[in-house]
Amino acid sequence: MLCRLFLFLLGLLHLHLCDSWLGLVQAQQTFFPAAVPLAVRTPTFNCWLQTGNGSNPMTSWPTFWNNQHILGWAGYIKVDGQPWHWLGAPIPGNASTWLSTQITPTRTIITVQAGPMQLNVTFLSPVEPSDWSKQSFPFSYVYIDGKATDNQPHSIQLYSDISGEWVTNSLATPIQWSSSTVGSTSYHQVRSTAASSTFTDVAEDSVAYHAISTEQPNLVSVIGTDQALRAQFTANGASISLTSDLAGQFGNVRGSDGKFPVLAHAVNLGTVQTISSVAWAVGVVRDPITTFMNVTRRGYYWSQYATIDDAISAFVDDFPAARTRAIALDEQILRAATAVSQNYADLVSLATRQAMAGMDITLSTLPDGTWNFSDVKIFMKDVGNSQRVNPTETIYGALPALMYLNASFTGALLEPLLEYQSSATYTNQFAASDLGLGYPAVPGDPSSDTLFAVENSGNMLILALAHARSSGDGSLIGRYYPLLKQWADYLSNNSLIPAQQSPADSREANLGQTHGNITNLALKGIIAVQAMAEMSQIKGEAADAQKYGATAGSLAQSWMSMTMASSQLLWTYDESGSYGLMYNLLADKLLQLNLFPAAVYTAESTSLSTLSTNLPPFGYALSSESSGNTRSDWTLFTAATAPDNATRNSLISTVHAKASSNASAGTFPTLYNTQTGVGPGAGISPNGFASPAQGAMFSLLALAVPNKTVIIPPSAVGSSAPGNTTAAGSHSSNAGAIAGGVVGGLAAVLLLVGLAFFLRHRRRRSDADGEMAAPQPYDGAPNMAQMFDAPNESATSPTSGSGAEAVHVPPSRGPTVNAFSAKAAAMRGSVLRTANSEPISLPSSQPGSSHLPSVSGTSVSRGTNDENLRSEMVRLRQEVEQLRAAQVPQEAPPLYE
Ligand SMILES: *[C@@H]1O[C@H](CO)[C@@H](O)[C@H](O)[C@H]1NC(C)=O
Ligand SMILES: *[C@@H]1O[C@H](CO)[C@@H](O)[C@H](O)[C@H]1NC(C)=O
Ligand SMILES: *[C@@H]1O[C@H](CO)[C@@H](O)[C@H](O)[C@H]1NC(C)=O
Ligand SMILES: *[C@@H]1O[C@H](CO)[C@@H](O)[C@H](O)[C@H]1NC(C)=O
Ligand SMILES: *[C@@H]1O[C@H](CO)[C@@H](O)[C@H](O)[C@H]1NC(C)=O
Ligand SMILES: *[C@@H]1O[C@H](CO)[C@@H](O)[C@H](O)[C@H]1NC(C)=O
Ligand SMILES: *[C@@H]1O[C@H](CO)[C@@H](O)[C@H](O)[C@H]1NC(C)=O
Ligand SMILES: *[C@@H]1O[C@H](CO)[C@@H](O)[C@H](O)[C@H]1NC(C)=O
Ligand SMILES: *[C@@H]1O[C@H](CO)[C@@H](O)[C@H](O)[C@H]1NC(C)=O
Repeated sequence: MLCRLFLFLLGLLHLHLCDSWLGLVQAQQTFFPAAVPLAVRTPTFNCWLQTGNGSNPMTSWPTFWNNQHILGWAGYIKVDGQPWHWLGAPIPGNASTWLSTQITPTRTIITVQAGPMQLNVTFLSPVEPSDWSKQSFPFSYVYIDGKATDNQPHSIQLYSDISGEWVTNSLATPIQWSSSTVGSTSYHQVRSTAASSTFTDVAEDSVAYHAISTEQPNLVSVIGTDQALRAQFTANGASISLTSDLAGQFGNVRGSDGKFPVLAHAVNLGTVQTISSVAWAVGVVRDPITTFMNVTRRGYYWSQYATIDDAISAFVDDFPAARTRAIALDEQILRAATAVSQNYADLVSLATRQAMAGMDITLSTLPDGTWNFSDVKIFMKDVGNSQRVNPTETIYGALPALMYLNASFTGALLEPLLEYQSSATYTNQFAASDLGLGYPAVPGDPSSDTLFAVENSGNMLILALAHARSSGDGSLIGRYYPLLKQWADYLSNNSLIPAQQSPADSREANLGQTHGNITNLALKGIIAVQAMAEMSQIKGEAADAQKYGATAGSLAQSWMSMTMASSQLLWTYDESGSYGLMYNLLADKLLQLNLFPAAVYTAESTSLSTLSTNLPPFGYALSSESSGNTRSDWTLFTAATAPDNATRNSLISTVHAKASSNASAGTFPTLYNTQTGVGPGAGISPNGFASPAQGAMFSLLALAVPNKTVIIPPSAVGSSAPGNTTAAGSHSSNAGAIAGGVVGGLAAVLLLVGLAFFLRHRRRRSDADGEMAAPQPYDGAPNMAQMFDAPNESATSPTSGSGAEAVHVPPSRGPTVNAFSAKAAAMRGSVLRTANSEPISLPSSQPGSSHLPSVSGTSVSRGTNDENLRSEMVRLRQEVEQLRAAQVPQEAPPLYE
């Protein structure tokens, strides 16, 4: 304990030393993506700036993620009457001189020179992992800071407008616009009046907003044509008296006269030497988001606001706080990622907004119109590949980011898949690929996808355990145990020799992988069976746990005997010389199963190092049969499993080379050729553009996400009466493992005391704290807070020694985060850490043996100490249950009441 306190203090010190760290790193640009995120929050609010082939970002229009559809968005500054634009390619006026572009996880900062003024134009797309109201609100900021490089005052005016292209596929689509002022916010909106029924990528059933605070000096808000307003702004000297040339509120995206109605806000700062964060907001709202199983679903944020006016006004007012949170989150992520390498930090930065924007967080209402907070579901679009909904392999790819940012995301993504597959509509013995096709429609997918049965069943079991372990929430395991078990039975029989099966990668024609017997696929199925053993353990089903553990052990041994040839790993059984990225090994690491011994990881590293001497510029092919094509997500999965830094860094650097290559166009794709860097296509045909699977860039960070004690709430245990805490209390994995393992008695007692202490404080806090913004009942604090759990002894952790600061910058609970709750979170981390760092029945490296930690249910009697511990644990579990029960109704109360 003392030692930990010391480390904690060391962490504090480190934090202060690092305060100026980000500024230093930003000094020089070394990362040049072909497209940078501007406003990227959801699958349909996804605006990028393409800078491929070295094109000047100051002369390009922003586009939708597909790199095809222009999103009209123009920005000007006027300095002493001279206009320059800082966004888009508008006429008239000259472009600012582009100086550099910096990317952080939440921000893209474009630095330009406009005459004597140097500007930082910052595009901030908030990432709010533990506030799902804020996370789900589809708005972004752009703000400008600037200073005169001649140290003289200048007359400064600023301008921004957007067009109807944000809500339409075609320039001929009729639109309607209007303006409002609410509180201290002025906003415009535009929507299509004839939404196309064929929803492809740009959502015609949405409303776009452009907003600004009325506290900006000399604000002028007006809707007119692009030609009129931009000409007036650029021509009128220091004046910004813009006058609309539009008669009504209806027109087409582009009128028959070739003019675009645009929604503009301009401000006049007068004569100044610096510009301090003049901010606009842009948003694209769809409401409702979808209908699933006949239930209408709306964005989570509606539970907090009575009207869209309230929501917009709150977003605009929140700008200073949102910026502070974003910077804190950026620093936290970057500090951890930079401990691996700058290359790695760049990849994480580019991927974060993209991964989060693949999701819509939704709620349903109860018959009386109030919100059902027990019914949070997240829908993920397979952006850039198809319009499939919640594809299991895409969630699996995104899992590292989900685990790191907030493990509860994973549960809310799995929930609709599990619910659907429990319904009478779904009859297969194995898991479905997705919830159907045609996002935002969520039709369900009853098809018998036998080709991908191992892939999908494996993904579901791995995701279910990953969610439980990293969130502590065992409710899915409690509610869907029979379904999970059914898939484990399927995998027990079918995963070792998937002779008639393909991985999901075979959906992409240029990746090959269309034949059976791919060893990496078998690996996934086997790991998933072991994951089931752990879930059985959590559920207190000892016999199942033994059975699946034994099966997984023996399958793993058979796999190794068939796959490990001359100390390398085959990609296909019976095919000597085949090789590939054995990326599913990451699941063994993330779930801490230790099903496969170090020799397997070393063998993969050996395979890769023989390739590294003659490596194509953009990396390692997915496999010997993928025609030189690869995937960034699986490359990073593989990097996180590498036992040596050389292999790890090599894998990371090749993805970085692609991500930083401006020779080929497109929003950070998952799929490309290792020689050319080019993907197979543009638009919605498969290319992996903007896929949320880039959450895989977090693979190395996710390794440091600590275990939590998994609790199955009583309400989630099928047969038990609600409130039967004794029954629920008997299902708890880590607690069981801790109590059952031969832990030093002292450590266990310290754990219990610490846990009890934490729980008391936490209860006190939640009693006092009526407005819990986080929707996930199992994790009040962001998961990053638990990174306090500095895994310093763990050789696998890339963030060793750097996690300690995390807790000091809780990024997103806003006013509800105080020193005390941060301390409580820190304490929880250290408590669990203390327990888990003890050697609990060390897994044997012998394949074939069960690696189950012993739990109270299965362990032989260890005498009275254990009995006492056990009863203490039961008591604590009850306390946890009561705490939970007391907390649930407090989740996210609507603010307007
Ligand atoms: C653009 O810059 C050129 C010289 O660099 C100048 O002659 C011209 O007037 C500028 N155009 C506008 C609209 O300011
Ligand atoms: C722009 O950003 C850079 C890098 O962070 C910083 O050094 C500079 O001071 C910023 N400029 C302004 C005007 O804020
Ligand atoms: C949805 O409603 C339709 C029409 O009422 C019904 O036929 C269908 O079975 C329902 N589907 C589900 C999943 O409940
Ligand atoms: C590998 O990299 C990590 C940082 O990610 C570093 O802490 C560690 O010392 C490195 N290991 C070796 C053997 O260089
Ligand atoms: C709220 O949603 C959950 C999850 O779908 C459902 O089980 C429950 O019945 C709903 N509550 C009510 C009161 O309908
Ligand atoms: C798959 O591997 C098994 C075991 O090596 C072998 O018996 C079978 O013929 C293989 N099937 C195919 C289609 O390659
Ligand atoms: C970039 O330039 C190269 C070389 O001129 C050309 O082959 C390639 O098509 C260009 N790519 C894009 C996206 O414009
Ligand atoms: C609580 O659950 C246990 C185990 O399922 C059961 O034996 C017991 O009867 C239940 N008690 C009540 C009050 O439902
Ligand atoms: C996490 O939990 C699993 C299962 O209880 C255990 O095998 C593993 O050692 C734990 N990891 C840590 C770091 O405590």
